[in-house]
Amino acid sequence: DTGALVDRFGRTATDLRVSLTDRCNLRCSYCMPAEGLDWLPTDDVLTDDEVVRLVRIAVEQLGVREVRFTGGEPLVRRGLVDIVRRTTALRPRPETSLTTNALGLQRTAAALAEAGLDRVNVSLDTIRRDDFLTITRRDRLDDVIAGLAAAKEAGLGPVKVNAVLLRGINDAHAPELLRWCIEQGYELRFIEQMPLDAQHGWSRTEMITADEIFATLEREFVLTPAEEPRGSAPAELFAVDGGPATVGVIASVTRPFCGDCDRVRLTADGQVRNCLFAREESDLRGALRAGASDEELADRWRVAMLGKRPGHGIDDVSFLQPSRPMSAIGG
Ligand code: GTP
Ligand code: 5AD
Ligand code: SF4
Repeated sequence: DTGALVDRFGRTATDLRVSLTDRCNLRCSYCMPAEGLDWLPTDDVLTDDEVVRLVRIAVEQLGVREVRFTGGEPLVRRGLVDIVRRTTALRPRPETSLTTNALGLQRTAAALAEAGLDRVNVSLDTIRRDDFLTITRRDRLDDVIAGLAAAKEAGLGPVKVNAVLLRGINDAHAPELLRWCIEQGYELRFIEQMPLDAQHGWSRTEMITADEIFATLEREFVLTPAEEPRGSAPAELFAVDGGPATVGVIASVTRPFCGDCDRVRLTADGQVRNCLFAREESDLRGALRAGASDEELADRWRVAMLGKRPGHGIDDVSFLQPSRPMSAIGG
């Protein structure tokens, strides 16, 4: 396919992650400061029609097969259900998913499922109320749990849960979270923290590594590598106590999967990022608003892939954290 999003290392991006807003209603300490950030000016944020147009070009001309909506928190975007409906109406129909903190999902899960959303991944680092408040700075654990239940009820599954472990806060409780997720029927994945926080406070020694996650879990569970091939999925899967339950580990830092990367990102203000850690972006919004045709936008997007570097470079002495924080990229 000459139209595909291929980079100089032969990787093809078929998985588009679209950030719909940089705003969030939580304040996770590993993501943003208590006071929040300077949000994108409203005029810079793509309209619903602009988002759908770019997603359509990606699907129809660039070979994108999966679309994931992210944020900030995508549920705070008013037009979300409509954007999902118009995305799942595209042909070939992309698999369509959402990564969310689940606040408000209790109210919208059914509508999202009806609009064609296939599944959701929910960020939840702890099921302890006090730790939830410490980490997110908001006392909203019950809403998240209700949102998760609503997602399962609406058939937005398999529902996955993403957890970031923080030293001395929730790391020792990883087995408890896993037990709870297994009971509830959610697929838990632990994520190594990446240097993408707005405060630039990440430190390699504070990060809980995949090895530490295994050591903690193996005190209470027997983990065996799951049979399924991992492909380009960031998560390595392990059967828990012989299965069928599994746990995933996303070891972006200590076991990078960049060589198999099939992702490309679109920010809420219409910039293509060829990598989470990209230092340059390509401005589709400007071209779009200047009247570019679908073909011109598709060409620009293909060119944007040529600058994709082979890996994230976190271990390089010259590593520089990208100027945009995670909350404005969408994870
Ligand atoms: P599934 O297809 O459901 O497995 O989704 P996912 O795990 O790819 O996506 P999700 O949005 O749930 O992200 C989980 C974690 O993986 C987050 O911390 C993301 O930042 C991280 N992640 C997602 N895509 C990439 C990527 O391309 N590179 C790196 N390094 N991390 C990523
Ligand atoms: N490193 C790794 N994962 C992160 N997330 C947020 N910030 C980071 C980080 N610095 C997680 C969120 C969410 C997902 C999109 O990324 O918890 O589950
Ligand atoms: Fe792909 Fe960049 Fe993530 Fe590596 S860090 S997997 S290259 S997006």
